[in-house]
Amino acid sequence: MSSCWGNHFKISLFGESHGEGVGVVMDNVPAGVKIDPQELLSFMARRAPGKDRTSTPRKEEDLPKVLSGMQNWITCGTPICAVIANTNTHSSDYQEMESAARPGHADYTGFVRYQGFNDIRGGGHFSARVTAGLVFAGGVCKQILAKKGITIGAHLLRVHGVSDTAFDPVAVTPETLLLTASSSFPTINAEAGEKMRVEIEKARLDCDSVGGVVECCAVGLPAGIGSPMFDGIENLLSSILFGIPAVKGVEFGAGFACADWLGSQNNDPFYMDEKTVKTSTNHCGGVLGGITTGMPLLFRTALKPTSSIGKEQKTINYITNEECTLKVRGRHDPCVAVRAVPCVEAACAIALCEILSSAHTL
Ligand SMILES: Cc1cc2nc3c(=O)[nH]c(=O)nc-3n(C[C@H](O)[C@H](O)[C@H](O)COP(=O)(O)O)c2cc1C
Repeated sequence: MSSCWGNHFKISLFGESHGEGVGVVMDNVPAGVKIDPQELLSFMARRAPGKDRTSTPRKEEDLPKVLSGMQNWITCGTPICAVIANTNTHSSDYQEMESAARPGHADYTGFVRYQGFNDIRGGGHFSARVTAGLVFAGGVCKQILAKKGITIGAHLLRVHGVSDTAFDPVAVTPETLLLTASSSFPTINAEAGEKMRVEIEKARLDCDSVGGVVECCAVGLPAGIGSPMFDGIENLLSSILFGIPAVKGVEFGAGFACADWLGSQNNDPFYMDEKTVKTSTNHCGGVLGGITTGMPLLFRTALKPTSSIGKEQKTINYITNEECTLKVRGRHDPCVAVRAVPCVEAACAIALCEILSSAHTL
């Protein structure tokens, strides 16, 4: 198996949830970029677990140790390797799962695929712990892109019937995109955030979980980046976004809703804003024919409800092939979508670095 992504700007993620640590190797990062370590650490802290009841109580600080590729936080142009140690593991919680498959999780498929040799503890390499490396890489990429005038931001758009204020597809600003970076809960509207917290807590107390939708946007991208067919912006973004565990859907612009519209409703009339070409609705999410229009790049990612829940569920013992029941123990996020927000931003930043790198404009 390989957990490598990218053809030009490459990342390779490694590690298991309860092993020594997780991390990333990044190839073809341009030389001479000054990285702000505080900004990188606060980005990683947004993903780190154990902050409050909306996330798993497993407390990890997610402090990266950079082994190579940077000197005094300036990129050398050589491969960057960062390791994040696992410091808080309770492997005994997973003994039952060595034979009983968690419904909705990858225990059964992982067992079949790796003939039982995969590390099951904490979900092993299937665990979202591996996204710590993704977020390190994405944090570096976000800073590279910011120096080119490109800003990326995401927020929790929906949780169990509660909606946040959506990004304005034609007028989203860098300031709006940076709002969630400094808030304790990743919504634009604090009241909506409080209501989401209530829904998440209700599910947690009921030994259940909820899913959610993360909306992400990038502004400052010039028109004309990307390619048609298989190397389009949508293709590349979707490919890395589906690498985030629990992602079940990705839609761009108006997404699935436009399938019910007439062409006259969905078309996005062009106009001139002084000397700049703009479109008036951005229903296409900033992409036409796989190529950027110069309007905000806008997409949404759906995350399923956490599969590890404390309710008794029917399952199978995959060693004996017998039916059994399972109440999942261990420490779990009652709503994975909350901590997925920086993961989505990271995936977007890495994908944009790959696209710019392949166009020799990074
Ligand atoms: C930020 C984040 C945190 C997650 N936390 C948990 C968790 O605590 N418990 C769990 O069962 N799944 C969690 N997941 C999801 C699983 O890792 C995922 O469902 C599993 O690997 C199976 O992959 P799939 O859902 O993509 O098929 C999390 C996902 C993300 C993005």
